[in-house]
Order: sequence, then structure tokens, then C-alpha cells
Amino acid sequence: MTGVRETVPVDALIAPSILSADYVNLEAEIGRVAAADWLHVDVMDNHFVPNLTIGPPVVERVVEVSPLPVDAHLMITDPDRWAPWYAEAGCASVTFHAEAVHDARALARELHRLGARAGLALKPDTDAEPWLDLLPDLDMVLVMTVEPGFGGQEFLDRVLPKVRRVRQAISAANLDVWVQVDGGVSTSTIERAAEAGANVFVAGTAVYGADDVAAAVAQLRELAAPHVH
Ligand code: DX5
Ligand code: ZN
Repeated sequence: MTGVRETVPVDALIAPSILSADYVNLEAEIGRVAAADWLHVDVMDNHFVPNLTIGPPVVERVVEVSPLPVDAHLMITDPDRWAPWYAEAGCASVTFHAEAVHDARALARELHRLGARAGLALKPDTDAEPWLDLLPDLDMVLVMTVEPGFGGQEFLDRVLPKVRRVRQAISAANLDVWVQVDGGVSTSTIERAAEAGANVFVAGTAVYGADDVAAAVAQLRELAAPHVH
């Protein structure tokens, strides 16, 4: 997706996670969330996290059928080797984990060369401080608000100071880097995530578990938008 890196959010971006969708009916499930902003695709390798989802061939088809830009969240070991493939497959944004990467700066630059946005993800217990020098090479920091691996977990409020710290560092450096939260985001947690500095919100259960998916997306966006700064 060319041009996506230049996109500036006017307000909150909602990224439904297909981890909570019916994988056997994936094309229909992707179509159900067309009113959202990004499609969040969780790639898990049963090694970095104790769960296994989809890999390159399925993600390639997801990109082809998705009406939304695809936001790949790679919960895999050795992202230096595998992440560029997701950019080549047309994912608009590719996020790799700080705990798994070997050379984050080189990988971010390679993702940019391939036309994707580059994101760095931090598990709940990973300190943001050693990574802040990397901000000029990033388009997004994903602050995990649950332990990665499974949908349907409870939002971890203890991570909010880290969201605040990352946003403050971005503002201090006058950078246009997005801050994403992922895990337990719902109508009861999204406002405090936005208030802490997030502007991109992944929601699995809160969207796919709703009877009216479009209404759920609209409600999340309306709750978050006044707090996005
Ligand atoms: C968890 C994944 C999330 C997950 C969120 O490891 O990264 O994207 O789908 O699901 P909910 O919104 O149900 O917590
Ligand atoms: Zn995710």
C-alpha cells in the first residue's frame, strides 16, 4: 500500500484483531470490519509466544482481500529474517518485538525501503527507556496491554505509565510516531489508554464479540477521539 506511511491520523484509529474472528470464514470476517481503520493480523510462531496462528501464505491472501490496510503484529523469533516478507506481501504496517529483534534500526530501515510502516512492540514488562533512541526510525510503538499470545485477556493498567512515557518522548522529539495499545481494549478501557497517549487501538473481543461490529467500532472511536492528542 503506497502512501500509507504519509497518512496522518485525524483522530483515533481502530484496528480490529482477526485473532477473535472465525478463521474458517476469514474473508467474510474481514469484510465485517470494513468500517474500521486498520486490520490487525497477529502472527504467532509457537516459539516467541505459546500460540500459533497464520503465516506468509495466509497473510498474503488476507492483504489481497482486505478493504483495510493490514497491520501485521509479529510475535515471532528472528523478525530480522522474517519481517521483510510481510512488507513485501503488502502489509501497510509491520511491527516486530523488541524482545526478539537483533538489529532494530536496520530492520526498521529495511521495512521502510520495502514501503511499509515500521513498528516496535514492547511486552508489558519490557522497559521503554532503552528503545527511545530508536524513535526517529520508527512509525509506531506498540505498548502491549496484555501478555502477548491470546485474545480475551484483561487490560493491564500498570502499563499506562509506559504509554505516557513513550508519548512524552515522541512529543519532546517533535516526531510523528503513533502509539498503539493491544490487549483488553474495550469501551471500559479505551479512554484511559487514549488519555495516556495512545492513538491506535487494537480490539479483538470488543469488536468481533459484538452483535453489531460497525457500531462497536464507532463507539470505540467516539470514546477515544476526545482524548487523543
Ligand atoms: C494478543 C494479540 C492481540 C489480541 C487482542 O497477543 O496481540 O492482538 O488479539 O485481543 P483482545 O482485544 O481480545 O484482548
Ligand atoms: Zn496483536
